[in-house]
Amino acid sequence: MKNIILIGFMGAGKTTIGKLLAKETELAFVDTDERIEQEQGQKIPDIFAQEGELYFRDLETELLQRMQEDTYGSVVSVGGGMPVREQNRALLRSLGCVVYLSAGKQTILERVKKDGSRPMLEGGSLEERVERLMREREGYYRQAAHIDVRTDGRSIRQVLQIISQETRKYGVVLQQFHDGKSKQV
Ligand code: S3P
Repeated sequence: MKNIILIGFMGAGKTTIGKLLAKETELAFVDTDERIEQEQGQKIPDIFAQEGELYFRDLETELLQRMQEDTYGSVVSVGGGMPVREQNRALLRSLGCVVYLSAGKQTILERVKKDGSRPMLEGGSLEERVERLMREREGYYRQAAHIDVRTDGRSIRQVLQIISQETRKYGVVLQQFHDGKSKQV
């Protein structure tokens, strides 16, 4: 298995869990939003404001295509909208073992409400936006994922343990979070 890819809604914990997972397994960590920002020299809200959402979505697809060649043995966190395109879902699955980090609406709302860096949540009622987008996307996340890990009510460590156990079924051996030095993806 080449990589572990974390997908899920904004605020599901992809970046937090991904960074810790990478640190504890001594794998590289890649965040597609960060890579896009670095390559464009612009923050995501500015890309949305100046170029529009479609431009950003094309950047996401183009990056996923390049990652097929240049990303290996990494924990990859992707933007919440990445699995919406059918082409992206196929690219994600061929990039490695896809883990869907899911959480309930209330948990998501708590996590995103103070953060103004997400253009998809701008304007109107935050709750309505979150509800609609979650409903629209749920099926896409499930289609893209090999593994579904619910995060509500679980500690980060519990989530890491579940990812380790579940990815094992897909041939990914992540060495343990307390004892391990060795690693394999
Ligand atoms: C988006 C999620 C964001 C970022 C962009 C669009 C989305 O990433 O890619 O603002 O459409 O859900 P996070 O899921 O890391 O917040």
